[in-house]
Amino acid sequence: MKLARDDFDPRYQHILDTCTPYLLTYPGNLGALDRAPFGWDIAAENTFDPTRLSSRRVVDGLHHLDAFSFGDQEMLMPRWVLFDCGEFPGIVFGFGRRAKDCPPDVRAAYRVAGDDDDDVYVPLSMWVAIRCAEDGAWFGHNLSSANLVSHQEKLPGLATITKSFGVKVAQVSTQYGATQWDSSSLGIHLSLGAMTLMCAYTPAHTHDETFAYRIDVDDDRLTAPLRPGFARPASGGDRHIDAGDTEAIRGLHTDIESGARYELFRIERRDHQPQRLWLKAHH
Ligand SMILES: CC(C)(COP(=O)(O)OP(=O)(O)OC[C@H]1O[C@@H](n2cnc3c(N)ncnc32)[C@H](O)[C@@H]1OP(=O)(O)O)[C@@H](O)C(=O)NCCC(=O)NCCS
Repeated sequence: MKLARDDFDPRYQHILDTCTPYLLTYPGNLGALDRAPFGWDIAAENTFDPTRLSSRRVVDGLHHLDAFSFGDQEMLMPRWVLFDCGEFPGIVFGFGRRAKDCPPDVRAAYRVAGDDDDDVYVPLSMWVAIRCAEDGAWFGHNLSSANLVSHQEKLPGLATITKSFGVKVAQVSTQYGATQWDSSSLGIHLSLGAMTLMCAYTPAHTHDETFAYRIDVDDDRLTAPLRPGFARPASGGDRHIDAGDTEAIRGLHTDIESGARYELFRIERRDHQPQRLWLKAHH
């Protein structure tokens, strides 16, 4: 599927007009990847190899982005984790710009405020994905965006377009991921595909109130939020889970282990209360 500039909602046209896509991966992987997702080329100068010294500043940028995205969630990635589990076997994909084209608060956050840093490539978003042993399956390891630290210029939609394009780059047919029930990113994952729950309570993870999900990738759904007029369901669902309700989460987990199948259907954001996740039962 190819998308022309006019196919995108204006928020995404703005990102495509002012940022460029980048890819960081070991070159041995390139033949298996789509370097023109939806027809949008990733330039050779934005294709970085983690084994080369010339990639050092962009890798530093990824760790700054990770620090302000996940530092307070106790999920900060040591450099070896990103190298061993993302950059080398999988992909790091996102959008960015040269430092000279970034607002001062972003330059400060990425430690590229000096005149000498003008040409450093600043990764403003990243989707890190690792290939699974199962054919066509990838695990989404990290999604983050500089919208968290950029107050002088917001790029609405940055994480959404990053994941949508990243899934295309990796040519994913089955996408797995693990996310916390209280995560602010659920709306993004959900807008890009139907999320079937694999588990609801996961002591194997740092945070046990994590669920794992599977999305069978479908191009129409993957591009729906990028197009004008996108709307999410505002009602419906068979069962709900409130983030933080351990009893409900463990009850759902027991049901899933006993064979029940649920899809995450919609998110209800509530004032001064944890978000409520609505599920649909698969019959
Ligand atoms: C969560 C995070 C990735 C979001 O980044 P972002 O660039 O601000 O996200 P986007 O601008 O793409 O999306 C913001 C919202 O716009 C919505 N949106 C996207 N396209 C839209 C459209 N065409 N029409 C209406 N809404 C749209 C998204 O669905 C999302 O909605 P929600 O917040 O209600 O769920 C970012 O805050 C972050 O890095 N957080 C810390 C790290 C983290 O927790 N990551 C997730 C763990 S997997």
